[in-house]
Amino acid sequence: MSEESPLPPQGATRPRTALVTGASSGIGEEYARRLAQRGYGLVLVARRAELLDELAREVRDDYGTLVEVLPADLATAQGLAAVTARLAADGSGRAAPVDLLVNNAGRGDGGLFAEQEPSEIDAMIDLNVRAVLHLTRAVLPVQIARRAAGEKAVLGVVNVSSLAGEPVSNPGGSVYGAGKKFLTLWSESVAAEVRPLGVHVTVVLPGFVRTDMTRSVQEKGLPEFAFVPKEHIVRDSLRAWAAGRSRVIPGAQYKTADGLLKVLPRSLVRAVARRMV
Ligand SMILES: NC(=O)c1ccc[n+]([C@@H]2O[C@H](COP(=O)([O-])OP(=O)(O)OC[C@H]3O[C@@H](n4cnc5c(N)ncnc54)[C@H](OP(=O)(O)O)[C@@H]3O)[C@@H](O)[C@H]2O)c1
Repeated sequence: MSEESPLPPQGATRPRTALVTGASSGIGEEYARRLAQRGYGLVLVARRAELLDELAREVRDDYGTLVEVLPADLATAQGLAAVTARLAADGSGRAAPVDLLVNNAGRGDGGLFAEQEPSEIDAMIDLNVRAVLHLTRAVLPVQIARRAAGEKAVLGVVNVSSLAGEPVSNPGGSVYGAGKKFLTLWSESVAAEVRPLGVHVTVVLPGFVRTDMTRSVQEKGLPEFAFVPKEHIVRDSLRAWAAGRSRVIPGAQYKTADGLLKVLPRSLVRAVARRMV
């Protein structure tokens, strides 16, 4: 936890609160800044506590928001338990209930499946899939109950998936792509379950974004049009979430690519994917 008390005095009106995982860099850091700008208090989660502390200081200075720093490794039982406990806060204690959970933390490494370390396969599934399910499972019952009790604010979850789950195959990134495909189907299904209860769940499917995760493809000199700015990922997904849409693909080029993937013959997409390994 950060050294300054992140909690408002008892009896004070609470701001809306967002918990962002993977807030120490890339897309998650951008979510944190933009949500603070929109007046959200923040709970920042990632492993690198010093980066979270730095970001917390910056957004407190820039936007005057309340910020909690919650360092946790979401691929471990202990780290996951600490964050699910925070998400279960229902407002009866001092901790503000979470209006928006952004499941953004993820890892994108891979390689040929037959050569991957089994422990690395587990670690990716634990972070990219298992943690997302458990965090969402912790917050949804609180949000559903708050809505039933008359809460007016928009409540729910944004899940950061990927277009990597959409092609018919993803050689070289099989675990990553399959995990994201799982996440997308699961998220859209949960969205349909909770929408009638007034809770919004949105999955965002970015294409390439310039972050630490894509350093190697950036170095390969991928053309500029292949990248969508992280600012657009955050802007488009928060808009879609506020509007109650269950899925959003930021960037005209990737909306088109997604449309093409749906109509092109599977054999053609498979052949192109094979050539890209
Ligand atoms: N960049 C792209 O092109 C792209 C495209 C589609 C989807 N995405 C998705 O976007 C999300 C964010 O990725 P990014 O591109 O912003 O990459 P990034 O800059 O590498 O950020 C990844 C974030 O996840 C956190 N993280 C990693 N392992 C963790 C763990 N075990 N426990 C807790 N936090 C952990 C990292 O923080 P610590 O290292 O401090 O823990 C970091 O804040 C991911 O889910 C990714 O799959 C990215």
